[in-house]
Amino acid sequence: MIKLEWIEKKYDLGHVTVSALDGVSLAISRGEFVAIMGPSGSGKSTLLNVLGILDEPTSGVYRLEEHDITHLPDRERARIRNRHFGFVFQSFNLFNELSAIENVMLPMTYAGVSFADRRRRAAELLDWLGLNERLHHLPTMMSGGEQQRVAIARALANEPDLLLADEPTGNLPTETGEMIMTTLEKLNKDGVTIVMVTHNEVQGGRATRRIRIRDGRIRGDE
Ligand SMILES: Nc1ncnc2c1ncn2[C@@H]1O[C@H](COP(=O)(O)OP(=O)(O)O)[C@@H](O)[C@H]1O
Ligand SMILES: [Mg+2]
Repeated sequence: MIKLEWIEKKYDLGHVTVSALDGVSLAISRGEFVAIMGPSGSGKSTLLNVLGILDEPTSGVYRLEEHDITHLPDRERARIRNRHFGFVFQSFNLFNELSAIENVMLPMTYAGVSFADRRRRAAELLDWLGLNERLHHLPTMMSGGEQQRVAIARALANEPDLLLADEPTGNLPTETGEMIMTTLEKLNKDGVTIVMVTHNEVQGGRATRRIRIRDGRIRGDE
């Protein structure tokens, strides 16, 4: 599904260049549940952002289904993200002025889905995530676990091929994090490919593959 070939990502800070990714090559197949693990500052988020084409690498090649998508105009990148990828972040990143259902409907608006279909699918997703009584709540009125479930529903809105999650349980109490992990496992069993950054060995153990990264390089892959 995805192939990264010798990806480098450098940040030029004027007086010094930070090498966040230092020659990462990696293939991800459909149906995998990959955990990206490593110490703080090792390049995990940078790798996830490159995989999600939120960030363009400094050098190297990114192939999605054999197509070289390393360098594309912003509009084209946005279209690929909207149609094929779903994102879940540690800090939820919901729109606080929109209700739960409106947050979930939003990506479908960009995909050109009709209002009725957006509403129906968003309600179904929130219901599946156990939030059928929270449809019209604002994020600020919800617990962290509830907000993260809204964020997962939003990530699933356009039936992504790949779900990218950056420490999705990082801001949640253990028990709530457990519920999020169970949800991700269910999704993976239903065929969604998942790449998740985590610090947590127990959570990483629940993935089907663990990639360990340090100083911007892959040090382990099992
Ligand atoms: N926008 C940026 N500008 C400058 N340096 C950055 C930027 N983003 C990340 N870095 C640096 O790149 C390295 C990897 O960061 P990151 O991918 O966020 O690590 P992790 O997610 O594993 O904690 C770190 O040294 C970090 O300081
Ligand atoms: Mg990070």
